[in-house]
Amino acid sequence: MDIAFQRFRPYRVSQEVRDRYADVHLSPSDFIYPYFVTEGSRVREAIPTMEGIFRLSVDYLMDDIAELSALGIDKLLLFGVVPDHRKDESGSAGVSSDSIICRAVRAVKERFPSMVVFTDVCLCEYTSHGHCGLIRDSDVDNDATLPLLAEMAYQHAVAGADFVAPSAMMDGQVAAIRQRLNAHHLPTKILSYSAKYASSFYGPFRDAAGSAPSFGNRKSYQMDYRTGEQGLEEIAADIAEGADWIMVKPAMAYLDMVQRASLLFPGHPLVSYQVSGEYAMLKQGAKSGFFDERQVFAESLTAIKRAGANYIISYYAKQWT
Ligand code: PBG
Repeated sequence: MDIAFQRFRPYRVSQEVRDRYADVHLSPSDFIYPYFVTEGSRVREAIPTMEGIFRLSVDYLMDDIAELSALGIDKLLLFGVVPDHRKDESGSAGVSSDSIICRAVRAVKERFPSMVVFTDVCLCEYTSHGHCGLIRDSDVDNDATLPLLAEMAYQHAVAGADFVAPSAMMDGQVAAIRQRLNAHHLPTKILSYSAKYASSFYGPFRDAAGSAPSFGNRKSYQMDYRTGEQGLEEIAADIAEGADWIMVKPAMAYLDMVQRASLLFPGHPLVSYQVSGEYAMLKQGAKSGFFDERQVFAESLTAIKRAGANYIISYYAKQWT
């Protein structure tokens, strides 16, 4: 046979050789670990749709972060969970220096000063209607929401957050937050959920955070999954408004966007969020015996990094490490 061809199988002969030729390796410092923080003390509530993930009160959060830190994970993202009776039209429970996130940030920074703390800035966890902004005439009032997001971010920053992460998908939210932080000379950076798609994969999160909208859906503010170029425009706009880090969310069904963002905006650290539905799907699939849990997570997380993400938010981070 005289056909010329190249041999690739020598790169795959053994695990040792495969390890040597791998060009993507996950490490604990790639991860940002998300937490759901709730009121009270000694609270550790299992989230039925997300096996292995809990809503924690601040005291138990400290114990969990001690474990996280021992694993070498040095970045975490905080979400607040409040009971329904504390919610109102404008999400005021989330917009105060005494909010559950502010209290958690202060505790984390006191106990674990070297942890890099990110906070979620959005109204949906605190509003009685469950939408990410103020509601008027049954739609979100974009511009009226901006001062509330700026105030929330400011409170998180004063509490000691290293990064605030606006996820409401209101136009101008980064500019409003940047202006407020600058006015107070706060060093806090902005990780913007720039290309955040309206996704079915957020299902379990809404259960975890109690933030499902009571009417309608989020398609008037989160991105339509049939758009690609617009995601890049969203990112460019956020950078122009003052975002330091950028995000593509969800991850696995949007790796094209991860790669395009990493190539187009190399100067801005890129985060991708393996969201609740991705986690739940892989966890449940493994539980059903469809695949090996560790291997399926290793493959999907490595793919997110291979696509170009510098950091990955994943509920599996702690279990992976
Ligand atoms: C909004 C927010 C959501 C998620 C992160 N921030 C929910 C939503 O937009 O509906 C989803 C994260 C996940 O699914 O893991 N504050």
